[in-house]
Amino acid sequence: MTLVNRPRRLRVSGAMRSLVRETVLHVDDFVYPLFVVEGENIKSEISSMPGNYHYSVDQLKEEIEEISELGIKAVLLFGLPEHKDSRASQAYYDQGVVQRAVREIKRINPALLVITDVCMCQYTDHGHCGVIEESYVANDVSAQIIAEIALSHAKAGADIVAPSDMMDGRIAAIRSTLDENGYTEVSIMSYSAKYASAFYGPFRAAANSAPQFGDRKTYQMDPGNSDEALREISLDLQEGADFIMVKPALAYLDIIRRAKDYFNVPLAAYNVSGEYAMLKAAAEKGYIDEKATALEMLTAIKRAGAGIIITYYAKEAARWIKGE
Ligand code: PBG
Repeated sequence: MTLVNRPRRLRVSGAMRSLVRETVLHVDDFVYPLFVVEGENIKSEISSMPGNYHYSVDQLKEEIEEISELGIKAVLLFGLPEHKDSRASQAYYDQGVVQRAVREIKRINPALLVITDVCMCQYTDHGHCGVIEESYVANDVSAQIIAEIALSHAKAGADIVAPSDMMDGRIAAIRSTLDENGYTEVSIMSYSAKYASAFYGPFRAAANSAPQFGDRKTYQMDPGNSDEALREISLDLQEGADFIMVKPALAYLDIIRRAKDYFNVPLAAYNVSGEYAMLKAAAEKGYIDEKATALEMLTAIKRAGAGIIITYYAKEAARWIKGE
């Protein structure tokens, strides 16, 4: 057979394949989420997310050292407070669990970037991401509280604040609050295109943050929408976001690609708890090869256009990439 083009020529060996490979994972791509809880002497595995733990602040040292030694450059912090109330007051308390954790991590390794998730849902007794007024999550008052939470994280030493609440105007509120208080160098990673997704299930079990009534569909985005993601992102950029994010990742690769094509700013994708738990469960049953599947998933997220991948696989993937 006379064939001028034989694409298989570029696949003949491992060396050839790596020479022409377009997307290669690097440990610098990863952000590792961490869950911190009130109390002492706590390191307990999260049952819905095997391999991830709840840590009390005093138990962070070993974990932070391990993360740093693996070469991971950033963590994303979530807090589980002892007390919840209607206005999430523990979320902007200077002795709150996240604020204490930020100070402790910066003491252990000042070079590790600390990103804080800025939201109310773990801190409200009703489990919504904002304040409830007349059975509705009220926007403007919630955005102001979100800005207060971000400020308290900045005061504790956070490098990047990451609002995940999806209130309109919260990026503008955060930026002006940070600037008025002298935190002009603290950057904002906006959960810009955050969908009302069932893939957050294992996280809500881990963070004890499921809404006690209703759902998040009046503030998080409808999974059927794609143009709307671009509108959300462009608003966040106008309001001062430094990073944008698409969340979830694996089921939203098309959104990541559109965001990458439209905007030239650092783009993060959140490989969420359900995406992680699916692989873990299938691997446990022996249905899939976990390492191969997880690395393929992360490569796909990067190939789609995400330069930053927030993933519960960060530590394992860092080891796999190193060849351990
Ligand atoms: C808080 C928040 C959630 C996640 C990150 N920040 C839950 C939600 O919005 O219900 C989900 C993360 C994951 O599933 O891994 N608003």
